[in-house]
Parts: sequence; structure tokens; C-alpha cells
Amino acid sequence: MQTVPFTYRIPASGETPAGYDRHLTRRLSSLRGFFQDGAAFEKEISLGDTLVYEVYEINRPENSGELQTGLSIVHPGLIGDEYYMTKGHFHAELQTAEIYHCLQGEGVMVMENMDGEWAVEELRPGVVLYILPGWAHRSVNTGHDEDLITYFAYPGHAGHDYATIETQGFRKIMLERDGRPCIVDNPRWVAPGSR
Ligand SMILES: [Fe+2]
Repeated sequence: MQTVPFTYRIPASGETPAGYDRHLTRRLSSLRGFFQDGAAFEKEISLGDTLVYEVYEINRPENSGELQTGLSIVHPGLIGDEYYMTKGHFHAELQTAEIYHCLQGEGVMVMENMDGEWAVEELRPGVVLYILPGWAHRSVNTGHDEDLITYFAYPGHAGHDYATIETQGFRKIMLERDGRPCIVDNPRWVAPGSR
């Protein structure tokens, strides 16, 4: 890990990210249960365990004085009529914010908080999204052939809580209707405490 100030690069379009410490890959098999259409999911995965999204991270200590930064790349694709997306998460340290800067592609960030509020913001190149503390977030690629690439930064001690979203889902999901992305109520959403 670096002990003096350092630089790294946001890759040019089409360039493979270099100089990052970690490269995480999430394939379809790690997203079983996240998509609405289970039959479409099983059909798709029988054809191959496709790469859905990747994260490139800079390794820094997990304390509040640091920042965690990196790149998120969501590939284009559909499971039934639901767009490829990340699992989505709250931060384990709930009251921590995050910045996403969209570099390439078209998509949305689906968000919600523990008070029942939700928000969906469009991501386009040049857009900076400030996610308030306490809001879970999921990137969705609503494009058809281009990667959705974002640069992110969040407090070093934030951590991830994936389990809450894995259990209850998001209130809103993104489906393709007549070739266009639509925000739809999640029929499988489970209100916290109702299970
Ligand atoms: Fe986050």
C-alpha cells in the first residue's frame, strides 16, 4: 500500500483499467435470486456464467480518514426484461455518503433509505451523483450495447451491508418496456420486520 501521495488513471474509452489493487468480478451465478424472472435467469445461465459487473479498487485502510475509490463497470444485458445490475448495498456504517461520477454508458442508480423513501437518478457521462448517508444504492445498465462505467469514492470506514438488500430487495426495479427503461414496483419487495 502506498505511503506517499500517489496517482492512478481513469482508463480511456475501451482501455483496460491498470494500476488498481483489486479486480472483483460478479458473474450471473453470484446473482441468483436477485432478478425477478427465475426461469429466464436459469435459461441464461445454462448458456454460460456471463460476467455481469466488475469493480476495480484502490486498496486503502478502512478508517474514517481514508477514502475508498475505484471503478464500477456494469455490462449490458437483460434477464427477461430486467436490466443487468449490481447487487446493491447499504453501507455497514450506515451514515456514510458516496460519490459516483459517470464516465461512460447509460444507466440509473436505484436508491432507497430505511425511512421508506426511494430515488432513481439517471447516469450519463459527466453526471456526478451524491448519495446521501443512509441510502442503499444499485447501479443498473439501461443501455443495450455499452458498458456503464462509474468512478466512486466513499469514506474509508463505510464497509458494505449486502445482506439487507439480498433479503428484502429494493422497492423499485428497472424493467424494459417497449424498448425503454421503466421504474416498476418490486412485487417481491419485503418490508423490513414483516418476515
Ligand atoms: Fe456504496
